Amino acid sequence: MNLLDGRTAVITGGAQGLGLAIATTFVQHGATVVIADINEDAAIEAADALSNQGRALGTAVDVTDGDSVQRLVRFAAEHAGRLDVWINNAGILRDMTIRKMELPDFRAVIDVHLQGTWLGIKYASAYMRENGGGAIVNMSSISGKVGNAGQTNYSAAKAGIVGMTKAAAKELGHLGIRVNAIQPGLIQTAMIESMRPEIVAERVKDIPLGRVGQPSEVAGAALFLVSDLASYVTGITVEVAGGRHI
Ligand code: NAI
Repeated sequence: MNLLDGRTAVITGGAQGLGLAIATTFVQHGATVVIADINEDAAIEAADALSNQGRALGTAVDVTDGDSVQRLVRFAAEHAGRLDVWINNAGILRDMTIRKMELPDFRAVIDVHLQGTWLGIKYASAYMRENGGGAIVNMSSISGKVGNAGQTNYSAAKAGIVGMTKAAAKELGHLGIRVNAIQPGLIQTAMIESMRPEIVAERVKDIPLGRVGQPSEVAGAALFLVSDLASYVTGITVEVAGGRHI
């Protein structure tokens, strides 16, 4: 069953990692995807690689810049013909203790995650409200639920995204626009691969499902939230964390 036939989805930060997994799942479900990333070459390369499975376009965006986000909305409308789904996924880390963290490290993370998500909601919804509605998913993190030492900037941004998701859902629901969030836990990405195996094993002890999650399992939650299966679901945060920190 193709859940996204005829739909166009934009995924910010889609050139790699969870964004690319989401783009892949969406293409497999019939969507045209626009992979948008600050690394334009990587976005185009990722889209080219996906093109054997469906329709995928790559382009540049800097989610911290409103003009750039508006250009991305126009790109989707012009090159893919419409815009039904928007995934605010782009992210960076500047992990360090409060003592070592300087204001630019704090701001950079807030700018990409929190401001970037707000700009995505603002300009995607401006298009969607004039064109029959749509679905937006914001990538939070379990760090935004429980807070992680060394991540005051990231945890604040990811918790802020939950509040922003609820506020936007309340503002935009009557326009046929649903807004939801996902909080991934420990997922098998480059970040995990750079961690020492004994540290990963220690963390896995806290996970009821007893293993690290796969990017495709985050993509599955995103697919549900943007599809018609979730037509009466808005303002929620789905934890994809194997039961960790429930
Ligand atoms: P990643 O680092 O593999 O990919 C992030 C992408 O965002 C990169 O392609 C990067 O070029 C792009 N990007 C960075 N700054 C940008 C900007 N200003 N404008 C546009 N694109 C920009 O990250 P990953 O691991 O795939 O994470 C994706 C999202 O999921 C992030 O929001 C992250 O915080 C969140 N997340 C990830 C988890 C994990 O286990 N990997 C766990 C919980 C949340």
